[in-house]
Amino acid sequence: MTDFLTVQKRTQYCGDLDASHAGAEVVLMGWAHRRRDHGGVIFVDLRDREGIVQVVFNPATSVACHAEAERIRSEFVLAVRGTVRMRPEGMENPDLRTGAIEVMVHELEILNESKTPPFMLDGLSDISENVRLKYRYLDLRRPEIQKNLILRSRVAAATRDYLHGSGFIEIETPFLTKSTPEGARDYLVPSRVNPGMFYALPQSPQIFKQLLMVSGFDRYFQIVKCFRDEDLRADRQPEFTQIDLEMSFITEEDIIRLMEGMIAHLFKTCLGRELTLPFPRIAYQDAMDRYGKDNPDIRFGLEIRDLTGILKCTGFKLFAEIAAGGGVIKAIRVDDGEALSRKDLDDLKDFVAQYGAKGLAWARVTATGWTSPIFKFLTPEEVSAINRTMEAGEGDVILFVADSPTVARDALGNLRIQLAKKLNRITPGLLAFTWVTSFPLFDYSETEKRFVATHHPFTSPVLSDVPLIATDPGKVRARAYDLVLNGSEIGGGSIRIHRKEVQQMIFKALGLSDDDARSKFGFLLDALEYGTPPHGGIAFGLDRLIMLMTGAESIRDVIAFPKTQKATCLLTDAPSPVALQQLMELSLKIAT
Ligand code: AMO
Ligand code: AMP
Repeated sequence: MTDFLTVQKRTQYCGDLDASHAGAEVVLMGWAHRRRDHGGVIFVDLRDREGIVQVVFNPATSVACHAEAERIRSEFVLAVRGTVRMRPEGMENPDLRTGAIEVMVHELEILNESKTPPFMLDGLSDISENVRLKYRYLDLRRPEIQKNLILRSRVAAATRDYLHGSGFIEIETPFLTKSTPEGARDYLVPSRVNPGMFYALPQSPQIFKQLLMVSGFDRYFQIVKCFRDEDLRADRQPEFTQIDLEMSFITEEDIIRLMEGMIAHLFKTCLGRELTLPFPRIAYQDAMDRYGKDNPDIRFGLEIRDLTGILKCTGFKLFAEIAAGGGVIKAIRVDDGEALSRKDLDDLKDFVAQYGAKGLAWARVTATGWTSPIFKFLTPEEVSAINRTMEAGEGDVILFVADSPTVARDALGNLRIQLAKKLNRITPGLLAFTWVTSFPLFDYSETEKRFVATHHPFTSPVLSDVPLIATDPGKVRARAYDLVLNGSEIGGGSIRIHRKEVQQMIFKALGLSDDDARSKFGFLLDALEYGTPPHGGIAFGLDRLIMLMTGAESIRDVIAFPKTQKATCLLTDAPSPVALQQLMELSLKIAT
Protein backbone atom coordinates (compact mmCIF):
# COMPACT_ATOMS: atom_id res chain seq x y z
CA MET A 1 0.00 0.00 0.00
CA THR A 2 1.39 3.41 -0.87
CA ASP A 3 1.46 6.02 1.82
CA PHE A 4 -1.34 8.45 0.97
CA LEU A 5 0.68 11.41 2.21
CA THR A 6 3.56 10.76 -0.19
CA VAL A 7 1.28 11.05 -3.22
CA GLN A 8 -1.41 13.45 -2.02
CA LYS A 9 -0.78 16.85 -0.49
CA ARG A 10 -3.43 18.76 1.39
CA THR A 11 -4.77 21.57 -0.79
CA GLN A 12 -6.79 23.53 1.81
CA TYR A 13 -7.86 23.63 5.43
CA CYS A 14 -11.44 22.36 5.82
CA GLY A 15 -12.61 25.61 7.36
CA ASP A 16 -11.26 27.72 4.50
CA LEU A 17 -13.58 26.34 1.81
CA ASP A 18 -16.47 28.41 0.51
CA ALA A 19 -18.60 28.93 -2.60
CA SER A 20 -15.61 30.28 -4.51
CA HIS A 21 -14.18 26.74 -4.52
CA ALA A 22 -17.27 25.17 -6.16
CA GLY A 23 -16.15 22.81 -8.90
CA ALA A 24 -12.59 22.51 -7.57
CA GLU A 25 -10.96 19.24 -6.63
CA VAL A 26 -9.54 19.38 -3.12
CA VAL A 27 -7.54 17.17 -0.79
CA LEU A 28 -8.44 17.61 2.90
CA MET A 29 -7.12 16.07 6.10
CA GLY A 30 -8.69 16.18 9.49
CA TRP A 31 -10.82 14.50 12.13
CA ALA A 32 -14.31 13.05 11.79
CA HIS A 33 -16.22 15.47 13.99
CA ARG A 34 -19.62 13.90 13.39
CA ARG A 35 -20.92 11.18 11.07
CA ARG A 36 -24.47 10.68 9.87
CA ASP A 37 -25.77 7.86 7.72
CA HIS A 38 -28.81 8.81 5.62
CA GLY A 39 -29.94 5.65 3.90
CA GLY A 40 -26.64 4.85 2.29
CA VAL A 41 -25.39 8.41 1.88
CA ILE A 42 -22.79 9.05 4.59
CA PHE A 43 -22.17 12.61 5.74
CA VAL A 44 -19.06 13.38 7.74
CA ASP A 45 -18.26 16.75 9.29
CA LEU A 46 -14.53 16.89 8.72
CA ARG A 47 -12.71 19.16 11.16
CA ASP A 48 -9.29 20.75 11.23
CA ARG A 49 -7.99 23.78 13.09
CA GLU A 50 -9.64 26.23 10.69
CA GLY A 51 -13.12 24.76 10.92
CA ILE A 52 -15.54 22.13 9.70
CA VAL A 53 -16.73 21.12 6.24
CA GLN A 54 -19.30 18.53 5.27
CA VAL A 55 -17.88 15.70 3.14
CA VAL A 56 -20.28 13.30 1.43
CA PHE A 57 -19.89 9.63 0.53
CA ASN A 58 -22.58 8.75 -1.98
CA PRO A 59 -22.77 5.03 -2.87
CA ALA A 60 -23.35 6.01 -6.52
CA THR A 61 -20.40 8.37 -6.91
CA SER A 62 -18.00 7.29 -4.15
CA VAL A 63 -17.95 3.72 -5.38
CA ALA A 64 -14.34 3.01 -4.50
CA CYS A 65 -14.47 4.26 -0.96
CA HIS A 66 -18.04 3.95 0.27
CA ALA A 67 -17.45 0.68 2.08
CA GLU A 68 -14.43 2.16 3.85
CA ALA A 69 -16.48 5.21 4.80
CA GLU A 70 -18.86 2.98 6.74
CA ARG A 71 -16.03 2.30 9.19
CA ILE A 72 -15.59 5.98 10.07
CA ARG A 73 -16.31 6.86 13.68
CA SER A 74 -15.87 9.99 15.78
CA GLU A 75 -12.31 11.34 15.80
CA PHE A 76 -10.93 9.00 13.14
CA VAL A 77 -8.22 10.80 11.17
CA LEU A 78 -9.12 11.02 7.48
CA ALA A 79 -7.63 12.11 4.20
CA VAL A 80 -10.16 12.70 1.43
CA ARG A 81 -10.01 13.76 -2.20
CA GLY A 82 -13.18 15.10 -3.71
CA THR A 83 -14.97 17.82 -5.61
CA VAL A 84 -16.50 20.88 -3.98
CA ARG A 85 -20.09 21.58 -4.96
CA MET A 86 -22.83 23.94 -3.89
CA ARG A 87 -25.20 22.19 -1.51
CA PRO A 88 -28.64 21.33 -2.93
CA GLU A 89 -31.17 24.06 -2.32
CA GLY A 90 -32.58 24.02 1.20
CA MET A 91 -29.62 22.04 2.55
CA GLU A 92 -27.39 25.03 3.30
CA ASN A 93 -26.25 25.52 6.88
CA PRO A 94 -26.02 29.23 7.66
CA ASP A 95 -24.40 28.51 11.06
CA LEU A 96 -21.31 27.07 9.39
CA ARG A 97 -18.76 29.19 7.55
CA THR A 98 -18.55 26.45 4.92
CA GLY A 99 -22.32 25.87 5.07
CA ALA A 100 -23.06 26.74 1.44
CA ILE A 101 -20.91 23.91 0.04
CA GLU A 102 -20.00 20.27 0.55
CA VAL A 103 -17.29 17.98 -0.78
CA MET A 104 -18.29 14.92 -2.85
CA VAL A 105 -15.58 12.40 -1.97
CA HIS A 106 -14.09 9.97 -4.46
CA GLU A 107 -11.03 8.89 -2.53
CA LEU A 108 -10.70 8.17 1.18
CA GLU A 109 -7.87 7.05 3.35
CA ILE A 110 -8.42 6.39 7.03
CA LEU A 111 -5.08 7.60 8.34
CA ASN A 112 -5.79 6.49 11.87
CA GLU A 113 -8.59 5.23 14.05
CA SER A 114 -9.67 6.57 17.42
CA LYS A 115 -11.14 5.04 20.52
CA THR A 116 -14.47 6.58 21.44
CA PRO A 117 -13.43 9.82 23.16
CA PRO A 118 -14.37 10.15 26.87
CA PHE A 119 -16.45 13.19 25.98
CA MET A 120 -18.03 14.69 22.90
CA LEU A 121 -16.05 17.59 21.54
CA ASP A 122 -19.16 19.74 21.25
CA GLY A 123 -21.74 20.59 23.89
CA LEU A 124 -19.44 20.47 26.88
CA SER A 125 -21.80 21.91 29.45
CA ASP A 126 -21.89 18.97 31.84
CA ILE A 127 -18.36 17.60 31.47
CA SER A 128 -16.20 18.17 34.52
CA GLU A 129 -13.11 20.24 33.98
CA ASN A 130 -11.05 17.48 35.58
CA VAL A 131 -11.94 15.09 32.77
CA ARG A 132 -11.17 17.76 30.20
CA LEU A 133 -7.77 18.41 31.79
CA LYS A 134 -6.91 14.71 32.01
CA TYR A 135 -7.56 14.36 28.28
CA ARG A 136 -6.29 17.84 27.51
CA TYR A 137 -5.05 16.80 24.05
CA LEU A 138 -8.67 16.04 23.13
CA ASP A 139 -10.04 19.08 24.92
CA LEU A 140 -7.58 21.16 22.88
CA ARG A 141 -9.23 19.87 19.69
CA ARG A 142 -12.31 21.90 20.59
CA PRO A 143 -12.69 24.88 18.29
CA GLU A 144 -13.34 27.25 21.24
CA ILE A 145 -10.01 26.46 22.88
CA GLN A 146 -8.12 26.39 19.59
CA LYS A 147 -9.48 29.87 18.86
CA ASN A 148 -8.11 31.11 22.20
CA LEU A 149 -4.63 29.70 21.60
CA ILE A 150 -4.53 30.97 18.02
CA LEU A 151 -5.41 34.45 19.27
CA ARG A 152 -2.73 34.09 21.94
CA SER A 153 -0.15 33.37 19.26
CA ARG A 154 -1.25 36.41 17.27
CA VAL A 155 -1.08 38.65 20.33
CA ALA A 156 2.46 37.44 21.08
CA ALA A 157 3.47 38.14 17.47
CA ALA A 158 1.85 41.60 17.51
CA THR A 159 3.58 42.36 20.83
CA ARG A 160 6.95 41.48 19.35
CA ASP A 161 6.22 43.59 16.25
CA TYR A 162 5.26 46.60 18.31
CA LEU A 163 8.19 46.35 20.71
CA HIS A 164 10.81 45.62 18.04
CA GLY A 165 9.36 48.57 16.13
CA SER A 166 9.83 50.73 19.23
CA GLY A 167 13.51 49.83 19.60
CA PHE A 168 13.23 47.05 22.19
CA ILE A 169 15.69 44.16 22.32
CA GLU A 170 14.46 40.70 23.29
CA ILE A 171 16.76 39.12 25.87
CA GLU A 172 16.30 35.88 27.82
CA THR A 173 16.99 35.71 31.54
CA PRO A 174 17.63 32.60 33.65
CA PHE A 175 15.04 30.30 35.20
CA LEU A 176 17.52 28.70 37.59
CA THR A 177 18.27 31.72 39.70
CA LYS A 178 17.96 33.37 43.06
CA SER A 179 14.68 34.37 44.62
CA THR A 180 13.10 37.60 43.33
CA PRO A 181 10.51 38.92 45.72
CA GLU A 182 7.09 39.52 44.13
CA GLY A 183 5.12 38.62 47.21
CA ALA A 184 4.63 34.87 46.63
CA ARG A 185 6.52 31.78 47.79
CA ASP A 186 9.31 30.54 45.56
CA TYR A 187 9.44 27.28 43.68
CA LEU A 188 12.79 25.79 44.62
CA VAL A 189 15.05 23.54 42.58
CA PRO A 190 17.73 21.57 44.42
CA SER A 191 21.24 21.66 43.04
CA ARG A 192 22.86 18.24 42.61
CA VAL A 193 26.37 19.55 42.23
CA ASN A 194 26.00 21.88 45.21
CA PRO A 195 24.38 19.68 47.86
CA GLY A 196 22.01 21.49 50.19
CA MET A 197 21.77 24.50 47.85
CA PHE A 198 18.72 25.57 45.88
CA TYR A 199 17.87 27.67 42.90
CA ALA A 200 14.60 29.58 42.95
CA LEU A 201 12.48 29.78 39.81
CA PRO A 202 11.93 33.48 39.09
CA GLN A 203 8.70 35.08 40.27
CA SER A 204 9.54 37.60 37.55
CA PRO A 205 12.72 38.70 35.74
CA GLN A 206 12.64 41.93 37.77
CA ILE A 207 16.26 42.12 38.94
CA PHE A 208 17.72 40.82 35.69
CA LYS A 209 15.91 43.40 33.62
CA GLN A 210 17.22 46.12 35.90
CA LEU A 211 20.74 44.71 35.49
CA LEU A 212 20.25 44.85 31.70
CA MET A 213 19.61 48.57 32.11
CA VAL A 214 22.85 48.86 34.10
CA SER A 215 24.49 47.11 31.14
CA GLY A 216 23.17 49.75 28.75
CA PHE A 217 20.64 47.82 26.64
CA ASP A 218 18.30 50.76 27.15
CA ARG A 219 15.10 48.96 26.05
CA TYR A 220 14.57 45.29 26.94
CA PHE A 221 11.59 43.01 26.60
CA GLN A 222 10.75 39.35 26.96
CA ILE A 223 7.64 37.19 26.78
CA VAL A 224 8.51 35.03 29.70
CA LYS A 225 7.28 32.43 32.15
CA CYS A 226 7.12 33.41 35.83
CA PHE A 227 6.65 31.01 38.74
CA ARG A 228 4.79 31.79 41.93
CA ASP A 229 3.70 29.43 44.64
CA GLU A 230 0.56 31.24 45.79
CA ASP A 231 -3.12 30.59 46.38
CA LEU A 232 -4.66 29.97 42.98
CA ARG A 233 -7.86 31.52 41.68
CA ALA A 234 -9.73 31.76 38.40
CA ASP A 235 -7.21 34.32 37.14
CA ARG A 236 -4.00 32.91 38.68
CA GLN A 237 -1.70 30.08 37.71
CA PRO A 238 1.50 28.89 39.42
CA GLU A 239 3.36 29.37 36.15
CA PHE A 240 2.11 32.16 33.96
CA THR A 241 3.44 34.41 31.21
CA GLN A 242 4.43 38.04 31.35
CA ILE A 243 5.10 40.56 28.65
CA ASP A 244 7.99 42.04 30.58
CA LEU A 245 9.86 45.19 29.67
CA GLU A 246 12.23 47.83 30.99
CA MET A 247 13.51 51.17 29.67
CA SER A 248 16.22 53.65 30.63
CA PHE A 249 16.13 57.46 30.76
CA ILE A 250 12.33 57.66 30.92
CA THR A 251 9.55 58.82 33.21
CA GLU A 252 6.18 57.31 34.16
CA GLU A 253 4.56 59.27 31.35
CA ASP A 254 6.84 57.77 28.68
CA ILE A 255 6.04 54.24 29.79
CA ILE A 256 2.31 54.87 30.13
CA ARG A 257 2.05 56.42 26.65
CA LEU A 258 4.11 53.69 25.00
CA MET A 259 2.09 50.94 26.71
CA GLU A 260 -1.22 52.53 25.77
CA GLY A 261 0.07 52.42 22.20
CA MET A 262 0.97 48.76 22.59
CA ILE A 263 -2.39 47.73 24.06
CA ALA A 264 -4.23 49.70 21.34
CA HIS A 265 -2.05 47.97 18.71
CA LEU A 266 -2.87 44.52 20.13
CA PHE A 267 -6.63 45.14 20.21
CA LYS A 268 -6.58 46.67 16.73
CA THR A 269 -4.49 44.04 14.98
CA CYS A 270 -5.81 40.98 16.81
CA LEU A 271 -9.47 41.86 17.45
CA GLY A 272 -10.08 44.73 15.03
CA ARG A 273 -11.11 46.93 17.96
CA GLU A 274 -10.27 50.60 18.12
CA LEU A 275 -9.49 51.83 21.65
CA THR A 276 -9.84 55.41 22.82
CA LEU A 277 -6.56 56.80 24.14
CA PRO A 278 -5.39 57.97 26.58
CA PHE A 279 -6.87 55.62 29.16
CA PRO A 280 -8.39 57.28 32.23
CA ARG A 281 -6.38 57.31 35.44
CA ILE A 282 -7.44 56.99 39.03
CA ALA A 283 -5.39 57.50 42.18
CA TYR A 284 -5.04 54.43 44.39
CA GLN A 285 -6.82 56.08 47.36
CA ASP A 286 -9.68 57.18 45.15
CA ALA A 287 -10.02 53.65 43.76
CA MET A 288 -10.11 52.21 47.28
CA ASP A 289 -12.66 54.79 48.46
CA ARG A 290 -15.00 54.62 45.46
CA TYR A 291 -14.62 51.02 44.33
CA GLY A 292 -13.20 49.29 47.41
CA LYS A 293 -10.34 47.77 45.39
CA ASP A 294 -7.07 48.70 43.74
CA ASN A 295 -8.31 46.99 40.57
CA PRO A 296 -11.54 48.94 40.11
CA ASP A 297 -14.18 47.77 37.67
CA ILE A 298 -15.41 51.04 36.21
CA ARG A 299 -17.82 49.51 33.70
CA PHE A 300 -20.74 50.40 35.95
CA GLY A 301 -21.56 52.90 38.71
CA LEU A 302 -22.67 51.55 42.09
CA GLU A 303 -19.89 53.59 43.66
CA ILE A 304 -19.22 53.51 47.36
CA ARG A 305 -19.88 56.64 49.43
CA ASP A 306 -18.85 57.39 52.98
CA LEU A 307 -21.62 58.29 55.44
CA THR A 308 -19.52 58.20 58.62
CA GLY A 309 -19.58 62.00 58.90
CA ILE A 310 -23.38 62.10 58.76
CA LEU A 311 -23.97 59.15 61.07
CA LYS A 312 -21.21 59.25 63.68
CA CYS A 313 -23.52 60.87 66.25
CA THR A 314 -26.72 59.17 65.12
CA GLY A 315 -29.34 57.88 67.53
CA PHE A 316 -28.99 54.47 65.82
CA LYS A 317 -26.69 53.05 68.47
CA LEU A 318 -25.25 50.25 66.38
CA PHE A 319 -23.86 52.68 63.78
CA ALA A 320 -22.79 55.32 66.33
CA GLU A 321 -20.84 52.74 68.32
CA ILE A 322 -19.09 51.36 65.27
CA ALA A 323 -18.11 54.90 64.24
CA ALA A 324 -16.93 55.72 67.77
CA GLY A 325 -14.74 52.61 67.71
CA GLY A 326 -12.84 53.79 64.62
CA GLY A 327 -15.20 52.09 62.16
CA VAL A 328 -16.92 53.61 59.16
CA ILE A 329 -20.40 53.59 57.64
CA LYS A 330 -20.35 53.23 53.88
CA ALA A 331 -23.04 52.65 51.33
CA ILE A 332 -23.88 52.09 47.69
CA ARG A 333 -26.99 53.21 45.86
CA VAL A 334 -28.79 50.93 43.45
CA ASP A 335 -30.96 52.88 41.06
CA ASP A 336 -34.14 51.11 40.01
CA GLY A 337 -33.91 49.14 43.24
CA GLU A 338 -37.32 47.52 42.58
CA ALA A 339 -35.35 44.73 40.95
CA LEU A 340 -34.15 43.75 44.43
CA SER A 341 -36.74 41.70 46.32
CA ARG A 342 -36.83 41.29 50.07
CA LYS A 343 -35.26 37.86 49.62
CA ASP A 344 -32.51 39.32 47.42
CA LEU A 345 -31.68 41.75 50.20
CA ASP A 346 -31.42 38.87 52.67
CA ASP A 347 -29.18 36.95 50.27
CA LEU A 348 -26.94 39.99 49.90
CA LYS A 349 -26.52 40.03 53.67
CA ASP A 350 -25.11 36.49 53.43
CA PHE A 351 -22.95 37.60 50.53
CA VAL A 352 -21.25 40.40 52.49
CA ALA A 353 -20.86 38.10 55.50
CA GLN A 354 -18.20 36.23 53.46
CA TYR A 355 -16.08 39.36 53.70
CA GLY A 356 -16.57 39.63 57.43
CA ALA A 357 -19.42 42.19 57.41
CA LYS A 358 -21.67 41.75 60.41
CA GLY A 359 -24.73 43.12 58.67
CA LEU A 360 -26.18 44.86 55.66
CA ALA A 361 -28.78 47.51 56.30
CA TRP A 362 -31.01 48.65 53.45
CA ALA A 363 -33.37 51.45 52.64
CA ARG A 364 -35.88 51.80 49.82
CA VAL A 365 -36.33 55.45 48.95
CA THR A 366 -40.00 56.45 48.54
CA ALA A 367 -41.78 59.75 47.92
CA THR A 368 -42.46 60.11 51.64
CA GLY A 369 -39.27 58.77 53.20
CA TRP A 370 -37.75 55.31 53.37
CA THR A 371 -39.01 51.80 53.75
CA SER A 372 -36.22 50.42 55.90
CA PRO A 373 -35.60 48.53 59.13
CA ILE A 374 -33.38 51.42 60.26
CA PHE A 375 -35.71 54.30 59.24
CA LYS A 376 -37.19 54.59 62.71
CA PHE A 377 -33.77 55.11 64.28
CA LEU A 378 -32.76 58.06 62.10
CA THR A 379 -33.77 61.73 62.19
CA PRO A 380 -35.37 63.31 59.10
CA GLU A 381 -32.20 65.43 58.77
CA GLU A 382 -30.01 62.33 58.71
CA VAL A 383 -32.26 60.68 56.14
CA SER A 384 -32.18 63.69 53.85
CA ALA A 385 -28.41 64.16 54.27
CA ILE A 386 -27.92 60.50 53.30
CA ASN A 387 -30.23 60.88 50.29
CA ARG A 388 -28.22 63.92 49.22
CA THR A 389 -24.83 62.23 49.59
CA MET A 390 -26.06 59.10 47.85
CA GLU A 391 -27.87 61.19 45.19
CA ALA A 392 -30.78 58.88 45.89
CA GLY A 393 -34.27 59.41 44.50
CA GLU A 394 -37.56 57.58 44.57
CA GLY A 395 -37.23 53.91 43.64
CA ASP A 396 -33.57 53.64 44.58
CA VAL A 397 -32.22 51.27 47.21
CA ILE A 398 -29.34 52.20 49.53
CA LEU A 399 -27.22 49.41 51.04
CA PHE A 400 -25.15 50.18 54.15
CA VAL A 401 -22.26 48.42 55.82
CA ALA A 402 -20.94 49.66 59.14
CA ASP A 403 -17.67 48.03 60.09
CA SER A 404 -13.91 48.47 60.27
CA PRO A 405 -12.60 50.41 57.25
CA THR A 406 -11.12 47.23 55.72
CA VAL A 407 -14.21 45.07 56.14
CA ALA A 408 -16.57 47.82 54.91
CA ARG A 409 -14.38 48.39 51.87
CA ASP A 410 -14.03 44.71 51.02
CA ALA A 411 -17.70 43.94 51.57
CA LEU A 412 -18.99 46.82 49.44
CA GLY A 413 -16.21 46.47 46.84
CA ASN A 414 -17.32 42.91 46.20
CA LEU A 415 -21.02 43.64 46.65
CA ARG A 416 -21.01 46.19 43.83
CA ILE A 417 -19.58 43.59 41.44
CA GLN A 418 -22.09 41.00 42.61
CA LEU A 419 -24.96 43.47 42.09
CA ALA A 420 -23.71 44.53 38.67
CA LYS A 421 -23.74 40.89 37.54
CA LYS A 422 -27.05 40.06 39.17
CA LEU A 423 -28.79 43.15 37.80
CA ASN A 424 -27.13 42.96 34.36
CA ARG A 425 -25.52 46.37 34.72
CA ILE A 426 -22.44 45.41 32.66
CA THR A 427 -22.66 46.28 28.97
CA PRO A 428 -21.44 43.23 27.02
CA GLY A 429 -18.29 43.85 25.02
CA LEU A 430 -17.38 47.00 26.94
CA LEU A 431 -13.64 47.49 27.51
CA ALA A 432 -12.96 49.74 30.49
CA PHE A 433 -9.26 50.39 30.95
CA THR A 434 -7.90 52.47 33.77
CA TRP A 435 -4.46 53.22 35.11
CA VAL A 436 -4.18 53.16 38.87
CA THR A 437 -1.50 55.58 40.09
CA SER A 438 -0.24 57.20 43.29
CA PHE A 439 0.18 53.95 45.21
CA PRO A 440 1.73 53.98 48.64
CA LEU A 441 5.25 52.50 48.60
CA PHE A 442 4.54 50.35 51.66
CA ASP A 443 1.54 48.52 53.06
CA TYR A 444 1.38 47.62 56.71
CA SER A 445 0.93 43.88 57.07
CA GLU A 446 -1.19 43.05 60.11
CA THR A 447 -0.11 39.41 59.97
CA GLU A 448 3.63 40.14 59.75
CA LYS A 449 3.42 43.27 61.95
CA ARG A 450 5.73 45.16 59.62
CA PHE A 451 5.71 47.21 56.44
CA VAL A 452 5.84 45.25 53.18
CA ALA A 453 6.41 46.59 49.67
CA THR A 454 3.11 47.34 47.92
CA HIS A 455 4.72 46.36 44.58
CA HIS A 456 8.28 45.11 45.07
CA PRO A 457 11.25 46.54 46.97
CA PHE A 458 12.90 48.05 43.87
CA THR A 459 10.09 50.54 43.24
CA SER A 460 11.21 54.15 43.52
CA PRO A 461 9.60 56.41 46.09
CA VAL A 462 8.54 59.89 45.00
CA LEU A 463 11.80 61.80 45.48
CA SER A 464 10.42 64.37 47.93
CA ASP A 465 9.08 61.56 50.14
CA VAL A 466 12.51 59.95 50.68
CA PRO A 467 12.93 61.57 54.15
CA LEU A 468 9.65 59.92 55.24
CA ILE A 469 11.04 56.41 54.64
CA ALA A 470 12.68 56.44 58.06
CA THR A 471 10.05 58.47 59.92
CA ASP A 472 6.61 57.68 58.46
CA PRO A 473 6.83 54.83 55.92
CA GLY A 474 3.05 54.59 55.47
CA LYS A 475 3.03 58.09 53.93
CA VAL A 476 5.68 57.45 51.27
CA ARG A 477 4.28 57.55 47.75
CA ALA A 478 5.49 55.14 45.06
CA ARG A 479 6.26 55.91 41.44
CA ALA A 480 4.18 52.90 40.45
CA TYR A 481 1.26 52.31 38.09
CA ASP A 482 -1.04 49.38 37.36
CA LEU A 483 -3.22 48.89 34.31
CA VAL A 484 -6.68 47.51 35.03
CA LEU A 485 -9.14 46.20 32.44
CA ASN A 486 -12.72 45.46 33.48
CA GLY A 487 -11.70 45.03 37.10
CA SER A 488 -8.75 42.77 36.39
CA GLU A 489 -5.14 43.87 36.96
CA ILE A 490 -3.49 43.16 33.63
CA GLY A 491 -0.20 44.91 34.25
CA GLY A 492 1.91 46.70 36.77
CA GLY A 493 5.21 48.50 36.90
CA SER A 494 7.17 51.40 38.25
CA ILE A 495 10.14 53.69 38.02
CA ARG A 496 12.94 51.92 39.90
CA ILE A 497 15.44 52.94 42.47
CA HIS A 498 18.77 53.62 40.75
CA ARG A 499 20.75 54.84 43.78
CA LYS A 500 22.28 52.45 46.24
CA GLU A 501 21.58 54.61 49.34
CA VAL A 502 17.87 54.75 48.58
CA GLN A 503 17.73 51.01 47.91
CA GLN A 504 19.42 50.37 51.25
CA MET A 505 16.94 52.64 53.05
CA ILE A 506 14.06 50.67 51.54
CA PHE A 507 15.53 47.31 52.54
CA LYS A 508 15.92 48.65 56.05
CA ALA A 509 12.33 49.95 56.18
CA LEU A 510 11.21 46.46 55.09
CA GLY A 511 12.98 45.00 58.08
CA LEU A 512 15.94 43.49 56.20
CA SER A 513 19.20 43.69 58.13
CA ASP A 514 22.30 44.82 56.24
CA ASP A 515 23.53 41.23 56.26
CA ASP A 516 20.23 39.91 54.87
CA ALA A 517 20.15 42.59 52.21
CA ARG A 518 23.71 41.70 51.25
CA SER A 519 23.11 37.94 51.08
CA LYS A 520 19.87 38.28 49.11
CA PHE A 521 20.55 41.29 46.90
CA GLY A 522 24.26 42.02 47.23
CA PHE A 523 24.76 41.63 43.48
CA LEU A 524 22.11 44.30 42.84
CA LEU A 525 23.56 46.67 45.45
CA ASP A 526 27.00 46.20 43.87
CA ALA A 527 25.64 46.88 40.38
CA LEU A 528 23.99 50.09 41.60
CA GLU A 529 27.51 51.40 42.31
CA TYR A 530 28.62 51.25 38.68
CA GLY A 531 26.66 53.96 36.92
CA THR A 532 23.06 52.77 36.92
CA PRO A 533 20.87 54.88 34.63
CA PRO A 534 17.45 56.07 35.80
CA HIS A 535 15.07 53.38 34.58
CA GLY A 536 11.63 51.85 34.89
CA GLY A 537 9.32 49.33 33.30
CA ILE A 538 6.20 47.25 33.48
CA ALA A 539 4.96 43.69 33.07
CA PHE A 540 1.62 42.53 31.70
CA GLY A 541 -0.01 39.24 32.55
CA LEU A 542 -0.35 37.74 29.06
CA ASP A 543 -2.72 34.98 30.20
CA ARG A 544 -5.05 37.48 31.85
CA LEU A 545 -4.94 39.75 28.85
CA ILE A 546 -5.87 36.88 26.52
CA MET A 547 -8.60 35.80 28.91
CA LEU A 548 -10.16 39.24 28.64
CA MET A 549 -9.61 39.46 24.88
CA THR A 550 -11.31 36.11 24.28
CA GLY A 551 -13.97 36.44 26.99
CA ALA A 552 -12.80 33.13 28.51
CA GLU A 553 -14.21 32.41 31.97
CA SER A 554 -11.02 30.91 33.32
CA ILE A 555 -7.32 31.52 32.81
CA ARG A 556 -7.05 27.75 32.15
CA ASP A 557 -8.94 28.18 28.89
CA VAL A 558 -6.16 30.30 27.39
CA ILE A 559 -3.24 28.09 28.46
CA ALA A 560 -2.48 24.90 26.53
CA PHE A 561 -1.52 22.77 29.52
CA PRO A 562 -2.69 24.52 32.70
CA LYS A 563 -2.57 23.45 36.32
CA THR A 564 -5.61 22.90 38.55
CA GLN A 565 -6.48 25.08 41.54
CA LYS A 566 -4.31 22.67 43.54
CA ALA A 567 -1.33 23.29 41.23
CA THR A 568 -1.46 19.80 39.76
CA CYS A 569 -1.34 18.74 36.13
CA LEU A 570 -4.03 16.10 35.61
CA LEU A 571 -2.59 15.15 32.22
CA THR A 572 0.91 14.22 33.34
CA ASP A 573 0.14 13.71 37.03
CA ALA A 574 2.71 16.27 38.10
CA PRO A 575 3.81 16.73 40.78
CA SER A 576 4.68 13.12 41.51
CA PRO A 577 6.98 11.17 43.80
CA VAL A 578 10.53 10.53 42.59
CA ALA A 579 12.85 7.56 42.99
CA LEU A 580 14.92 7.32 46.14
CA GLN A 581 18.01 7.34 43.93
CA GLN A 582 17.09 10.79 42.59
CA LEU A 583 16.62 12.15 46.10
CA MET A 584 19.96 10.72 47.16
CA GLU A 585 21.72 12.33 44.22
CA LEU A 586 20.25 15.62 45.37
CA SER A 587 21.20 14.95 49.00
CA LEU A 588 17.52 15.22 49.93
CA LYS A 589 15.39 13.25 52.37
CA ILE A 590 11.59 13.44 52.66
CA ALA A 591 10.84 14.47 56.25
CA THR A 592 7.35 12.99 56.60
P1 AMO B 1 3.33 41.89 39.03
O1 AMO B 1 3.63 41.00 40.18
O2 AMO B 1 2.26 42.93 39.22
O3 AMO B 1 4.60 42.70 38.58
O4 AMO B 1 2.96 41.00 37.77
C1 AMO B 1 2.62 41.59 36.53
C2 AMO B 1 1.32 41.01 36.00
O5 AMO B 1 1.38 39.60 35.91
C3 AMO B 1 0.09 39.05 36.10
N1 AMO B 1 0.16 38.02 37.15
C4 AMO B 1 -0.35 36.78 37.05
N2 AMO B 1 -1.05 36.18 36.08
C5 AMO B 1 -1.43 34.91 36.26
N3 AMO B 1 -1.14 34.18 37.36
C6 AMO B 1 -0.44 34.73 38.37
N4 AMO B 1 -0.14 33.99 39.44
C7 AMO B 1 -0.03 36.10 38.25
N5 AMO B 1 0.67 36.95 39.04
C8 AMO B 1 0.77 38.10 38.36
C9 AMO B 1 -0.84 40.18 36.48
C10 AMO B 1 0.12 41.26 36.90
O6 AMO B 1 -0.40 42.54 36.68
N6 AMO B 1 8.23 42.57 38.15
C11 AMO B 1 6.94 43.24 38.26
C12 AMO B 1 6.65 44.09 37.04
C13 AMO B 1 7.44 45.36 37.00
O7 AMO B 1 7.52 46.05 38.05
O8 AMO B 1 7.92 45.71 35.91
C14 AMO B 1 5.86 42.17 38.38
O9 AMO B 1 6.07 40.99 38.21
O10 AMO B 1 -1.57 40.57 35.33
P1 AMP C 1 -31.10 45.18 64.16
O1 AMP C 1 -31.65 46.32 64.94
O2 AMP C 1 -30.00 44.41 64.84
O3 AMP C 1 -32.15 44.32 63.52
O4 AMP C 1 -30.34 45.87 62.93
C1 AMP C 1 -31.03 46.76 62.04
C2 AMP C 1 -30.49 46.60 60.67
O5 AMP C 1 -29.09 46.93 60.63
C3 AMP C 1 -30.63 45.22 60.09
O6 AMP C 1 -31.09 45.37 58.77
C4 AMP C 1 -29.23 44.68 60.14
O7 AMP C 1 -29.00 43.81 59.03
C5 AMP C 1 -28.41 45.94 59.96
N1 AMP C 1 -27.06 45.79 60.47
C6 AMP C 1 -26.62 45.13 61.57
N2 AMP C 1 -25.28 45.25 61.69
C7 AMP C 1 -24.88 46.02 60.66
C8 AMP C 1 -23.64 46.50 60.21
N3 AMP C 1 -22.49 46.25 60.85
N4 AMP C 1 -23.59 47.25 59.08
C9 AMP C 1 -24.73 47.50 58.41
N5 AMP C 1 -25.92 47.08 58.78
C10 AMP C 1 -26.01 46.35 59.89
